[in-house]
Amino acid sequence: MNGPEQVDMARARVFGEVAVVYDAARPGYSDALVSDVLDYAAPGGGWALEVGAGTGKATVPFAERGTRLVCVEPDPRMAEVLRRNTARFPGVRVHVGGFEEWQPGGRRFGLLLAAASWHWVDPERRWDLACAALAPGGAVALFWNPQGVRDPGVHAALAEVDARHGMTGTPHGAPASAYGDAAGDWAGLPGWPEDECRRDGRFADVRGVRHREDRYYGTERYLGYLASLSRYRVLSPGVRERVLADTGRVLDAHGGGIAMEQFSDLFLARVG
Ligand SMILES: C[S@@+](CC[C@H](N)C(=O)[O-])C[C@H]1O[C@@H](n2cnc3c(N)ncnc32)[C@H](O)[C@@H]1O
Repeated sequence: MNGPEQVDMARARVFGEVAVVYDAARPGYSDALVSDVLDYAAPGGGWALEVGAGTGKATVPFAERGTRLVCVEPDPRMAEVLRRNTARFPGVRVHVGGFEEWQPGGRRFGLLLAAASWHWVDPERRWDLACAALAPGGAVALFWNPQGVRDPGVHAALAEVDARHGMTGTPHGAPASAYGDAAGDWAGLPGWPEDECRRDGRFADVRGVRHREDRYYGTERYLGYLASLSRYRVLSPGVRERVLADTGRVLDAHGGGIAMEQFSDLFLARVG
């Protein structure tokens, strides 16, 4: 995850290469998280803005709860799947482009959502862009879903595969027991983005919330999930194939899948 440093543009725009696999394999977001966001922001009948909507993993559960959304997504291949996934919701509009280029025009939103995408927005501009898009008192809801491996034996075997291939920051890089109760204690950037948001000075009522749930991935789905991650996408095809094959062999030797604990980490703040 990119905290205060520069965004790696090559990695930011790789997701569409595997948009369909992404959509099938990536985990979604819990009902509890969606409820927390809606309770906090109370968007009512107003429009929400979603930054980096991807294929709609977060868009759909919010739309199902009656939220109307303008979705900003730079990758046309992701946007195409997003349009398909949200075709049944007349209150979802898709704009293809980066958040940095998008113009709110006269619109101001009561809620800005970013699911696993805020770290891809220009660190120099992201809070200014949020303030420009939000109505007074409008809320930002930024969330991610890091995971930890339940079985220490599986974790150790996968750590050996990752070390052999020089992989870091993989979703199985930490055991579930390494996570505490506070949102944001992962990815080597404890406290981000809460600290960055507080430093900005324009936001109040900053909160971090962590939800936990169990997830089980069969080998094929887990390898699809890994293949959709930017750190696997930037590998050459041959290297990626070898890493995934070795990872799959470990999972197959441990019952044909991997049990994970998913931590939905949610950051909420309100602009003054
Ligand atoms: C990890 S995906 C998350 C997608 C979706 N929100 C989800 O939770 O599955 C990150 C998304 O951010 C998008 N993205 C990258 N740079 C962006 C930018 N500058 N502005 C808006 N979205 C961006 C990517 O195209 C990608 O769809």
